[in-house]
Amino acid sequence: MNILVTGGNGQLGSELKHIAFQYPQLNCMFTDVEELDITNQDDIISYVEEHNVGLIINCAAYTAVDKAESDIERARIINATAVKNLIKACELSSAKLIHISTDYVFNGEAFCPLKESDQVIPLGVYGLTKLEGEQYVVSSNEEGIIIRTSWLYSSFGNNFVKTMMRLGVERESLGVIFDQVGTPTYAADLAGAIMSIINSNEKLDKKGKVYHYSNEGVASWYDFALAIFELSGIKCIVNPIEASEYPTPAKRPYYSVLNKKKIKNDFNISIPYWRDSLRSCLYEIEKSN
Ligand SMILES: NC(=O)c1ccc[n+]([C@@H]2O[C@H](COP(=O)([O-])OP(=O)(O)OC[C@H]3O[C@@H](n4cnc5c(N)ncnc54)[C@H](OP(=O)(O)O)[C@@H]3O)[C@@H](O)[C@H]2O)c1
Repeated sequence: MNILVTGGNGQLGSELKHIAFQYPQLNCMFTDVEELDITNQDDIISYVEEHNVGLIINCAAYTAVDKAESDIERARIINATAVKNLIKACELSSAKLIHISTDYVFNGEAFCPLKESDQVIPLGVYGLTKLEGEQYVVSSNEEGIIIRTSWLYSSFGNNFVKTMMRLGVERESLGVIFDQVGTPTYAADLAGAIMSIINSNEKLDKKGKVYHYSNEGVASWYDFALAIFELSGIKCIVNPIEASEYPTPAKRPYYSVLNKKKIKNDFNISIPYWRDSLRSCLYEIEKSN
């Protein structure tokens, strides 16, 4: 099968590229905005037709959560309108779609892990535009699924893990938010899960289109930072602070732990605990330095 991966230079796209060689039966074609801008409908349609694409994995997104608050139109074009382009190309070529979305579609007022059917109320432009993208997929008749994930990090690209590692050696102490709770997700694990889903040969719309995937367990950003320092041997004091002490342009959910029962059951996936995956990522970061 020919697979088009958009946003191929991002965290998730890079992790998919890293493991694609393990699946020689899948011909993965990785593109990013320079080669294939998903906001250009004609280009997307031609690419999918010319390369006989059978599946699109959409990893492309506008992910700058705070910047999106003042760059609404650009965020909407990439996170929502462009998803319509991908769906159109899928319709014309009978291709399937795996679309990636976010825990930021939730408002954070839940108190137990969020199911796919729970009410979505985004707090900011990023979450809102990602939700609009989801809605195009849900209302299309094409075969496809949405995978919502949370707190993504990787040895590729910039993310919370790398920021903490940089600040942890520069400073003696850091204040990190303790009253936002979720689950970190190692993008390598999500990439592996996506490949398992594709290989499972299960239909991609058999039990509803939305799935949740994060690593197992629960953490605050404070717990996450402590674990990063502990596992990488960085001596930096971490002080818990409230989100209100670290104001950002975009509001973020206080609680966005995802319930992953559906994806585990439907696709027979086992998911690693977040601290174990963090250890694996730190090992990869160390290897690349
Ligand atoms: N990062 C997180 O914490 C997080 C959490 C939950 C869900 N997610 C979702 O997970 C998915 C993957 O996230 P990620 O962290 O891998 O994102 P990422 O590292 O920001 O990668 C996204 C990629 O898409 C590219 N892109 C932007 N506009 C494009 C366009 N018009 N056409 C083609 N490519 C374009 C970006 O290029 P530029 O860098 O040049 O813009 C970048 O290479 C996204 O759907 C995201 O919303 C992420």
